[in-house]
Amino acid sequence: MEVKTLAIIGAGAMGNGIAQVSAVGGYNVAINDISEASLNKALATINKSLTKIVSKGKITQEDMDNSVARIKTSTSLTEVCKEADLVIECVFENLELKKKIFENLDKICKPEAILGTNTSAIPVTEIASSCNRGDKVIGIHFMNPVPLMKGVEIIRGQLTSEETMEATLKYVKKIGKEAAIAVDYAGFIVSRLLDVLMNEAVKLVQEGNSPEEIDKAMMLCAGHPMGPCKLLDLVGAEIAMHGMETMERDFGDEYKPHPLLKKRVLAGLLGMKTGKGFYDYK
Ligand code: CAA
Repeated sequence: MEVKTLAIIGAGAMGNGIAQVSAVGGYNVAINDISEASLNKALATINKSLTKIVSKGKITQEDMDNSVARIKTSTSLTEVCKEADLVIECVFENLELKKKIFENLDKICKPEAILGTNTSAIPVTEIASSCNRGDKVIGIHFMNPVPLMKGVEIIRGQLTSEETMEATLKYVKKIGKEAAIAVDYAGFIVSRLLDVLMNEAVKLVQEGNSPEEIDKAMMLCAGHPMGPCKLLDLVGAEIAMHGMETMERDFGDEYKPHPLLKKRVLAGLLGMKTGKGFYDYK
C-alpha cells in the first residue's frame, strides 16, 4: 500500500517533530491532541524549527510554506484518522492509554491503514494486542530532536506483515531518515542502551560527581555528541524512568530505576520541558 496521508496522535515534542519532517517529506499530515492549546503550541514549534532550517539554507522559504500548508490539526480523533494511510501514536508512555487508543484506531481507521507507535520502550506486540490488525501495527521510534536526528528505529511486532514493514521503510526513506531495525523486546535497541546510561549517570551524581563533569567526560573522552545528564534533560527524566521500569518488569532488577531518578521525576525536574533538570532552561 502507498502511504500518502498521515495522522499523528499527540502534539508533544515527538508528535510535532514527526509531523514536521513528514510534511517536509511531502506527506499530508493531520495532528490530533485533546487540547487545542497543545495543537497551537505544536504549530508554533514547527514554524520556529522550520524557520531555523530555512535560515541554514537546508530548505527554501517556499518549501517551508508548502510544508506548513500540508499540516492540519484537530481535537477530533475521528476527523484526523479517517483518511489516514499511516497513523503514528505519540502520546505519553502509558500502556493502558496506548491500548485504548489502538482499540479506537482499529474502529476509526480505514481497514488498510497502518498503525504505528512511537513508544520508546513498550513492546509493540503488547500495544497491538488491543486491536484486531496486528499485521498492520509497527513500532516507528523517532529520536529527539526529530528534525535533526537521522535515525528511526523500526520494530516489527509479533504479527507485523512484510507489507507493513515495506510501506513503513518506504515512508522513513522518503522523509530523509534511515531505519535501524530492532527486535520487539522492552527498550528495543536505543532505549535499552541509553536509558541504562542515563540511569547510571544519575547514580554518578548521587555518588558526588557533578553533571557538568559527567557530561564533559563523556563528550571529551568518549566522543558522545552530548553528555548523559544533558541527554536526560533532552529526552525527559520521566521517559527514561518509564523505560527503565518497563525493562525492569520484563528483564528483572538490574534495570531498576535509581531512587534519585524517581525522586527527580516526582519533583518535576524533568529537564527542558519543565525548564529545569540537571541544567536550567528558564
Ligand atoms: N529544529 C531545528 N533546528 C534545531 C532544532 C530543531 N528542533 N534543535 C536544535 N536546532 C539547531 C540549534 O538551534 C543549532 O543551531 P545553531 O547552529 O544556529 O546554533 C543547531 O541545530 C545545532 O544544535 P546545537 O548547537 O544545540 O547542538 P549540536 O551541534 O550538539 O547538535 C544534537 C545537537 C543533534 C541534538 C546533538 O547534540 C546530538 O546528536 N545529541 C544526541 C541526541 C540523542 O541522542 N537523541 C536521541 C535521544 S533518545 C530518544 O530520543 C528516544 C526516546 O525514546 C527517548
